[in-house]
Amino acid sequence: MMLATIYKQLTQRDFKILRAIERGLGKYEYVPVEYIISQSRIPETYAYMSLGKLNKLKLVRRITATYLGYQLTYRGLDCLALKSLVDRGIIEALGDKLGVGKESDVYRALTPAGDQVILKLHRVGRTSFRQTKRYRTYLEDKPSLGWLIQAKIAGEREFKALAELHKAGARVPRPLGWSRHAVVTEYVEGVELYRVKGLSDPVDVLQKIIDTIRIAYTRVGIVHGDLSEYNIMVTVEEEPLIIDWPQYVERDHPSAPDLLRRDVEYVVRFFRKKFNVELDLEEALQYVTGKTDAGAG
Ligand SMILES: Nc1ncnc2c1ncn2[C@@H]1O[C@H](COP(=O)(O)OP(=O)(O)OP(=O)(O)O)[C@@H](O)[C@H]1O
Ligand SMILES: [Mg+2]
Repeated sequence: MMLATIYKQLTQRDFKILRAIERGLGKYEYVPVEYIISQSRIPETYAYMSLGKLNKLKLVRRITATYLGYQLTYRGLDCLALKSLVDRGIIEALGDKLGVGKESDVYRALTPAGDQVILKLHRVGRTSFRQTKRYRTYLEDKPSLGWLIQAKIAGEREFKALAELHKAGARVPRPLGWSRHAVVTEYVEGVELYRVKGLSDPVDVLQKIIDTIRIAYTRVGIVHGDLSEYNIMVTVEEEPLIIDWPQYVERDHPSAPDLLRRDVEYVVRFFRKKFNVELDLEEALQYVTGKTDAGAG
């Protein structure tokens, strides 16, 4: 069932129950039903009714083995984040799913003013799960508590990085809000760099990308860490915007130099292969780290 369809079926009481489970997540892998009832302050009979409904909608997962307990699913966390974003007027409606990334689901959404925005729901554990599944089949389809918390951390990291980058003048989508593992940004009307057919001024586009890497490094103090033609959006006006920041590392992190080199190398290599633009890697590295003032042009 679609996320918007599920979301619309939920009442205030259901959200109270979901929040009560969320509150217990740091403490229990499966939150005991007594804890949920006392935290939600909902009369027992109604709480059980709600839990039954949430279980059917797959927003929670139930265990009955040693005690009756519940765990949130990513779907459940999605609904809590949506509720918060809607209540705060950051978004009003959910649109279609743009894609399923390695570590996220990306949706279109609308603000109360009718502007189109992007809602990114982080999904930590998706890829590592696929890798481990082969050997540990009992893990099948069991999102762990750790993953939800890690997804929330990813959401917070990405939002805060985008906010600082945007403030510092880096070319990134403008961040509009965040809740838990969900990040809302402006919608970029464009395509990923790898899909761009031609550029009227590739040197200028490369320069703008390099400038953003430099701003991130010298002013914000971070390295993207997963930069490539897949994480750069190019608008119709040929403005490049760097997306997908949750895995950034701080400038003084031990692996920052290697990651920075790799980020710059991927970009430089792509422009050389596709647009015949020559930029010396070492010179570019000097520039992005603020050691020189000459860029690509
Ligand atoms: N602000 C935006 N405007 C328009 N499209 C966007 C925006 N942010 C993300 N997208 C689209 O969603 C896709 C996935 O976003 P992002 O790279 O942030 O997530 P991801 O989970 O890391 O995905 P992947 O694993 O594919 O890298 C992007 O490649 C792009 O097509
Ligand atoms: Mg990406």
